[in-house]
Amino acid sequence: MADKRLVAGRSVVVFDAYGTLLDVHSAVARHAGTIGSVAETLSETWRTKQLEYSWVHALMGRYEPFWTLTERALDHALARHPQVDPALRGDLLEAYRDLAAYSEVPATLDALRAAGLRLAILSNGDPAMLARAVASAGLGDRLEAVLSVEAAGTFKTAPSAYALATEHFGVAPDAVLFVSSNRWDIAGATAFGFASAWVNRKGMPEEYPDLAPVAVIESLDGLVRVEQAG
Ligand code: LAC
Repeated sequence: MADKRLVAGRSVVVFDAYGTLLDVHSAVARHAGTIGSVAETLSETWRTKQLEYSWVHALMGRYEPFWTLTERALDHALARHPQVDPALRGDLLEAYRDLAAYSEVPATLDALRAAGLRLAILSNGDPAMLARAVASAGLGDRLEAVLSVEAAGTFKTAPSAYALATEHFGVAPDAVLFVSSNRWDIAGATAFGFASAWVNRKGMPEEYPDLAPVAVIESLDGLVRVEQAG
């Protein structure tokens, strides 16, 4: 059952994809044995640079597909860790195309849908990478829409990126609960007018105090009311 405190008055739940539904570190994790002790740092650098490139390109007004930025970020991460065999590049990119979803994702989406909510992804990912990721994670039938910022020609946190969701569903921003594990994305969504839920899996300290989510949850299970036994 959906948590009524979070979804009351909302008709749509919009999810960030990478890091929220899909575990971005699962690509490197699949090859961690070969990569060795720097695997975690490599994955963090890859992710940090991918995001930095998206913000820099958005500010310059020079949109590039997120896949291109993902490749460039991996090239930078590999260059910073010369002990990692650069021949792994292709394997890592292949793994990134088929990232694992967090284990609670299918059941959470099913519970929200059963409560009558309309569900979508709004992601910086380009349409091709999103289509493959959603299909390989088995989420396609559970989502009404997979929206890519490509249609806005920029990246989150540009308001025009978040507006793709309200335009698609024909609703006001406050009808949307936006869910992301990225605190910067929660800031952008809140600034746009969405109610937002921050998935803080790692217990990170709060940021953007003037753009607070309506809820902080440890995993997506937090969107679904846990029935008390007995
Ligand atoms: C996304 C990335 C930014 O899916 O996490 O939008």
